[in-house]
Amino acid sequence: MAGSMRRIAVMTSGGDSPGMNPAIRAVVRSAAAAGVEVFGIRQAFSGLLAGDFERLSPRDVSGIIQRGGTILQTARNVEFRTPQGQARGMRRLNEHGIEGLIVIGGDGSLRGALALHKLGFPVVGAPGSIDNDIYGTNMCIGVDTALNTIIDAIDKLRDTASSHERCFLLEVMGRNCGYLATMGGILGGAEFIVIPEHETQLEDIGKTLHEAYLKGKSHAMGIIAEGASLKINDIATFLEQHEIGFEVRMTVLGHVVRGGKPSAFDRLLATRMGVKATQLLLAGETGVMVGLHGREIGTVSLEEATSNQRDVSSEYIEMAEMLAK
Ligand code: F6P
Repeated sequence: MAGSMRRIAVMTSGGDSPGMNPAIRAVVRSAAAAGVEVFGIRQAFSGLLAGDFERLSPRDVSGIIQRGGTILQTARNVEFRTPQGQARGMRRLNEHGIEGLIVIGGDGSLRGALALHKLGFPVVGAPGSIDNDIYGTNMCIGVDTALNTIIDAIDKLRDTASSHERCFLLEVMGRNCGYLATMGGILGGAEFIVIPEHETQLEDIGKTLHEAYLKGKSHAMGIIAEGASLKINDIATFLEQHEIGFEVRMTVLGHVVRGGKPSAFDRLLATRMGVKATQLLLAGETGVMVGLHGREIGTVSLEEATSNQRDVSSEYIEMAEMLAK
């Protein structure tokens, strides 16, 4: 099929992330430049199973480069995990004359892409997830924007924290990965971070905060990853029962982190990944994911990307601790 594709499809899948729209735009326009038609599949694998396809012309993706979320919408689908669901998905693609597919999404979405590849369907993946938990890329589409939202929240919380001599505990998303919390802690100047990859004792948090207070700090900040075993409520309860100097308040940032217009970095990353994924697919490559390797967009097999764990580098964890003193 290499070089002979006339019609491909694109979907965004899993949790939305800022930059998915510029990625869709890049796929549609780079395919059009090669004379290839693009269909958007609405609501990811759910839309695939339902046959919810729409033709996307270069004009249909005008004015979306700056928009957060995804114009194609997204979903988390369980039926596609079954062999029957996958066979139905293949039928839908064939019914619509689709010859290749680009899947932009996180871990579960890339597994779906791999399943189609194993059934012989040409697929290329692109990592889109705020969590930055995907193996085979330095950065996923959406991470930079999410981090900017987090540090903006930290900066704002610090204003009120220092006015009241308080310690704020801020919970951030990231599923089982502590990347956003670690980088947020470093970039926002937090006193401590709590992440799934690293065990933290309540007593150590109490000691750190009390020392910060005795040193004359007017505020303190702790960033807690949602997936850490130590939960924000337990930390707050412990701190309230111990004399640390600061009053304690909690904020859970939640889905705020997933929204907002994509940063310059995410627009560029998404655009480069969208173009590269399209070029690879049209050149007959399948079963691969595009990834940021150094400054270049490279590839890794979907098998490798989905069967390996990406951990937060211990260098960053140590840096966060050292700079908090
Ligand atoms: O994977 C992205 C993410 O935002 C995680 O950080 C979070 O744990 C999860 O999705 C939330 O999922 P949902 O939007 O389905 O509640």
